[in-house]
Amino acid sequence: MNGGGSAEMGPDLNLPMNPTEYFQASALRRYLREPTSVRAWPEQKMPGFGPDRLSEAELDAVIAYLAHMAELRSR
Ligand code: HEM
Repeated sequence: MNGGGSAEMGPDLNLPMNPTEYFQASALRRYLREPTSVRAWPEQKMPGFGPDRLSEAELDAVIAYLAHMAELRSR
């Protein structure tokens, strides 16, 4: 997020854009639940977060956090 961390595994989630800005809301929820249901390729590494790992309320909170970070960045 915003260049923090080693950034060796996945993409930055706010720079240059935040996934809440370029994913349709329903596609982002699907992606977080099961990335391969949105797009898939052999080297894909991101794990899915099913209801056993993230409740609906927790998923809402993660997405609200992402949207909030996008809002802060664009101020
Ligand atoms: C709730 C936590 C997470 C969120 C919100 C999240 C979000 C995302 C999003 C939105 C993308 C798609 C970016 C794009 O294609 O534009 C992505 C890709 C990716 N994420 Fe995550 N992610 C999370 C957890 C993780 C974890 C735990 C890992 C690694 C263990 C991971 C590794 C990756 C990788 C490697 C990609 C690139 C696509 C792939 O190879 O699967 N993510 N992430």
